[in-house]
Amino acid sequence: MNILLTGGAGFIGTHLTKKLLDEGHIVLAVDNFGSNYDPALKRRNVAPFEGRPGYYLFEGDIRESSFLHLLFGTYAIDVVVHLAGLAGVRPSLQQPASYFDTNVTGTVTLLQTMRDFKVSKIVFASSSSVYGERNEIPFRETDRIEELASPYAISKRTGEMLLQNYHQLFGLNAYCLRFFTVYGPNQRPDMAISRFIQRLFDGERIQLFGNGQSLRDYTYVNDIVAGIVRAIERVNGFEIINLGGARPVALIDLVRKLEQYTGRKARLDYRPEQPGDVSQTAADLTKAAHLLGYQPRVSLEEGLQRMVNWFQAEHTSLLEEK
Ligand SMILES: NC(=O)c1ccc[n+]([C@@H]2O[C@H](COP(=O)([O-])OP(=O)(O)OC[C@H]3O[C@@H](n4cnc5c(N)ncnc54)[C@H](O)[C@@H]3O)[C@@H](O)[C@H]2O)c1
Repeated sequence: MNILLTGGAGFIGTHLTKKLLDEGHIVLAVDNFGSNYDPALKRRNVAPFEGRPGYYLFEGDIRESSFLHLLFGTYAIDVVVHLAGLAGVRPSLQQPASYFDTNVTGTVTLLQTMRDFKVSKIVFASSSSVYGERNEIPFRETDRIEELASPYAISKRTGEMLLQNYHQLFGLNAYCLRFFTVYGPNQRPDMAISRFIQRLFDGERIQLFGNGQSLRDYTYVNDIVAGIVRAIERVNGFEIINLGGARPVALIDLVRKLEQYTGRKARLDYRPEQPGDVSQTAADLTKAAHLLGYQPRVSLEEGLQRMVNWFQAEHTSLLEEK
C-alpha cells in the first residue's frame, strides 16, 4: 500500500515507519520538523530510513494546502495516517492558538485535500485526554465526553468530530485511535518517563505534580504501532477506538520502577497538581480487541527496562564524561 504518514519524523511516526517498510509498504512521510522539541532529534529519528526502498520524506506543513495538493497530485495514496500535531497537555495551556492551528486547521486542510483527490481512508491519532477528569475507570469509547481539561484535549476531540463529519457528509472511512500515554525509545523529551530517566542519571530532582497517586495507563510504542497497522488494514466506516496498555500505574510506583532499572535513587520534589492534568486514565480495550484484534503485549516492566537500556546506549559517551 502507499501510505501517507503525517508527523513521520516524530516519536510514534518513526516507529511506525520502520514497521510499515519492513512489511513492504511505501511510506510517504510528511513532517515540518517543527520546534515543539529539538528538531535535531527528529532528523536523527528519520536518518535510518534515508535511501531505504519505498521511503520518501517530504519536509512541509499540513496547514499548507498547496503543499498537500502537490503531494496528493503526484502520488496515488491508499491510506492516510495522520499523526502530525502538537502533542502534550501542559504546553497547550501556554499556546492554545498554536494547538488549534496545527491540530484543527491542519486536520481540516488535510481532510479537504483528501476529498479533492478522492482518498477515502484515514487513521487519526487521538488521545486519552479527550475523556477529561472522570471518576469511573476504565474509559470506554461510548462514555459521554462532557468536560475537557485542556486546549490540547479540545483540539483532539475537534479532530475526531471533523473526521466524523467528513464520514457523514462525504463517506470518509476514518478510525480515530485514542492513544493512552505512549512510551519507548525516542519518546518525546518533554514526556514524563523521558524526563525522569534523564534526571535519574543526571542526579537531578524529579518534580512530581500532585501526591504521586495519579494513575496513568502507559502503552509501549510497539503495541501502539501494531494497533495502527491493524487500523490501516481494516479502516472502514467511522470508529473511535482506545489503544492502551491495560494496566494503569500510580506515578510514584512508576518512579520506583525506574529507580530499580536505572540503579539510581530519585530525589523527589513534590509540587501542586498542574492545571489541565487529570487524576487517572485507564483504557477499556474491548472494542480494540474486537475490531483490531488488539492486545498489548509489552508489560510496563519490560517496556521501561527496554527504554532505560536504550537511554543508556544512546548516552554512554555522555555518562562516561560525568
Ligand atoms: N505520545 C503520546 O503519548 C501520545 C498520546 C496520545 C496522542 N498522541 C498523538 O500522537 C501523535 C504523535 O505523537 P508523538 O508523541 O509521536 O509526537 P511528536 O511530536 O514526536 O510527533 C508529531 C510530529 O508532527 C510534526 N508536526 C507538527 N506539526 C506539523 C505540521 N503543521 N505539519 C507537519 N508536521 C507537523 C512534528 O514535527 C512531529 O515530528 C500526535 O498527534 C499526538 O497528539 C500521542
